[in-house]
Amino acid sequence: MPTVLILNGPNLNLLGTRRPEVYGSATLADVEALCREEAERLGLEAVCRQSNHEGQLVDWIHEAGVEHRAGRCVGVVFNAGAYTHTSVALHDAIEGAEVPVVEVHISNVHRREEFRHHSYLSPVARGIVVGFGVYGYVLAIHGLHQATRS
Ligand code: DQA
Repeated sequence: MPTVLILNGPNLNLLGTRRPEVYGSATLADVEALCREEAERLGLEAVCRQSNHEGQLVDWIHEAGVEHRAGRCVGVVFNAGAYTHTSVALHDAIEGAEVPVVEVHISNVHRREEFRHHSYLSPVARGIVVGFGVYGYVLAIHGLHQATRS
C-alpha cells in the first residue's frame, strides 16, 4: 500500500494541552488516528512522525524523497510548527528531495502575529491548508491523493 508521511514539527507533541483556544483539544495521538483512518479510506497507509528537532525533520523529508522516487510514497503532510517561519534548511530539504509536500497549519497563521505570516515552506509546497483546525490534515491527505491521480 502506498504511504503518506504525516510529519509534525516542534511543540505539536503538546497538542491538546497547548493553547486549546488556538489549536483545539485534540491530542497528537488523536490527529494521527484521524490521519490513519482517512488515509486507509483512500487506500493509503499513513506513516506518522513528530520531532522537535529541525535536523530530524530534514532527514525524514529526504527519506520521503527516496520513497517517492521509488513510487512508494505519495507525499508529505507537513506541519512544521514554528520552523515554518524560520527554517531555510527545511525549505532546501523539500526543494532538494523533490517530494510533494502539503504545508498544514491548524490555526489561521495570517490572523495571528506578523512573524507567523511568512513561511519559508510555502514557495516549495505543493499546496497549503491553513486555519481549518486538525481537519486540515484530512484535507491535505485528500489533496495529495488527488494530485497523484491527475
Ligand atoms: C502552527 C502555527 C505556527 O505558527 C506555530 O508555531 C505552531 C503551530 C499551526 O498549526 O497553526 O507551532 O503551525
